[in-house]
Amino acid sequence: MPTVALLGTGIMGAAMGRNLLRSGLQVRAWNRTRAKADALEADGATVTGSPAEAADGADVVITMLNDGPGVLAAMSGAVPGLRAGQVWAQMSTVGLLALEPLAGFAAEHGLIFVDAPVQGTRQPAEQGELLVLAAGPEDARAALAPVFEAVGKKTMWLGDDGAAGNATRLKLAAVNYAIALTGIIGESLALTEALGLDPALFGEVVTGGPLDNVYLQAKMQAILSGDFTPSFAVRNAEKDTRLIAEAAAVAGVRVDMTEGVGERFRRALALGHGDDDMAAAYFAGFTPDGPVTPGGRSGR
Ligand SMILES: NC(=O)c1ccc[n+]([C@@H]2O[C@H](COP(=O)([O-])OP(=O)(O)OC[C@H]3O[C@@H](n4cnc5c(N)ncnc54)[C@H](OP(=O)(O)O)[C@@H]3O)[C@@H](O)[C@H]2O)c1
Repeated sequence: MPTVALLGTGIMGAAMGRNLLRSGLQVRAWNRTRAKADALEADGATVTGSPAEAADGADVVITMLNDGPGVLAAMSGAVPGLRAGQVWAQMSTVGLLALEPLAGFAAEHGLIFVDAPVQGTRQPAEQGELLVLAAGPEDARAALAPVFEAVGKKTMWLGDDGAAGNATRLKLAAVNYAIALTGIIGESLALTEALGLDPALFGEVVTGGPLDNVYLQAKMQAILSGDFTPSFAVRNAEKDTRLIAEAAAVAGVRVDMTEGVGERFRRALALGHGDDDMAAAYFAGFTPDGPVTPGGRSGR
């Protein structure tokens, strides 16, 4: 069984780390804010004070951080512990433009670079049911098989060149869909409320019909109950809207809905919802000086 260095124990990294440990893999965990990595100690992780200490002796290095610059910073800090031939599964959502510097870093240090973002949020991560979208050389796959099996229900291999970014491309398309859905769910509930009705009535109309889906139920429940415990924080979702827009501009395709939801995320950020679940984009649906629904949920 490979020893895994896990760099980043946020919402996704911590859940993935626990599943790696449950599957019998050794995990050397590092997080910038150490307390979050310490929480994995009781599950059997070796918590380290630096990324280099985590990477030292590991067969596989996983990065699960916010974005490309964060990943590069952590990997630069890991340099004294890295050795040529280590497999690096880059599982954060970093977008296409970040791939070149990351793959360049891997080449410079003799690492085998695997572009491996995941589809699925907190709950599938906790249940080991993520979908791993992966691209990287055949000779990395044996070491990665027990790792991906521990965190996911399925791995889709999308070619043998991590730097080409097929896995990241598909991830951007998938998260584009999730973001647009989140936006329209919040917008429809805010509209129902602003038109003077109980937003739960919207739920009654769509539940059990052809417009229903698990995602709608989860995000609608968050909004109606006011529980914005993050599965995917507004801050990270907003980052993804920019990565999608960036990739779309290069590819020559319009992503009007995601750009619109990006605006909603930025307004939610300004309202102080950055660390809340992205369902909190709902709060961005109300104009600052529009009429307030009596007893409304707009948070104004
Ligand atoms: N949550 C989801 O539903 C979901 C689903 C699929 C993919 N993703 C992607 O997976 C990645 C992680 O998401 P998450 O939800 O786990 O995010 P998160 O809870 O916000 O965790 C982010 C992690 O990145 C670290 N970090 C940020 N900037 C850093 C820097 N400059 N240097 C070192 N560490 C840094 C944070 O450290 P601190 O603890 O010190 O802040 C934290 O460990 C993101 O790319 C996200 O887009 C998320």
